[in-house]
Amino acid sequence: MNTSTTPSELREARAHWQAPIAFVPTMGALHQGHLSLIQQAREIVGEEGTVVVSIFVNPLQFDRPDDLKNYPRTLPEDLRYCQEEGVDHVFHPSSADFYLGDHSIQVLEKKLATHLCGASRTGHFDGVCTVVLKLFNLVQPSHALFGKKDYQQLAIIRRMVRDLSSPVEIIGIETHRESDGLALSSRNRNLTARDRADAPRLRKALLAAQNLAATGERQPARYLAAAQQQLAGAPVSFRLDYLELVSQDTLQPLSTLNERAVIAIAAFYGEVRLIDNIEIDAA
Ligand code: PAF
Repeated sequence: MNTSTTPSELREARAHWQAPIAFVPTMGALHQGHLSLIQQAREIVGEEGTVVVSIFVNPLQFDRPDDLKNYPRTLPEDLRYCQEEGVDHVFHPSSADFYLGDHSIQVLEKKLATHLCGASRTGHFDGVCTVVLKLFNLVQPSHALFGKKDYQQLAIIRRMVRDLSSPVEIIGIETHRESDGLALSSRNRNLTARDRADAPRLRKALLAAQNLAATGERQPARYLAAAQQQLAGAPVSFRLDYLELVSQDTLQPLSTLNERAVIAIAAFYGEVRLIDNIEIDAA
């Protein structure tokens, strides 16, 4: 496995890579969810192709300085995982090496980011799009893999690639979960033991809502009420950020369930923000 820490080192390394190139962008603190992205990347490109991982905690996508400061950083362990998974190249730049001091161009998303995380984290998806497009320009992958836990992120990246004609195929991978249903996240390691024990509540709330789909229920409010019921009794450290039912296509709220929808939730346990989602198809 090779590594690089600057864009110019990455470009030099890239000259020796075999196509196809599958890319897994991450912010590190790798967990089983990331490892499954890496494994799927290898399946896509085969032994002859190249699997590239980036590890970069992107300051542009953080709206709270404390969140950026407390985001887990575990580079030596991450590199070990990548080595064990047979990754060909890991790019792990510092912020100073990645962004020029006077960088002044950003990618803006104006429709899909108006609800869910986009509404509660100002500028978050502009930061995500900017870093992902820059990484795509550097790595020039044929494929890039993203987890479906970040549902809105995946939709926005697909839209960016479509609208800006990036020659990258975006592949969404199912959310990996602990045995109690909690979606794997780098942030889980910052939960207290008591909050960790309570956190599967998010998944239970989403499943309670999804159960209504079998009844043919069309009222979004009923789905949200079913989920809300499961949130009663959460510890005082719990604070709901949002619970919304939106169209899978536009990510805008629906007044009636006449198309495929997704319910997404974000909640804080103390300072730790968790997200999850579930698709609803009220056939
Ligand atoms: O999902 C993440 O880890 C990040 O948002 C990403 C895509 C690596 C961009 O920084």
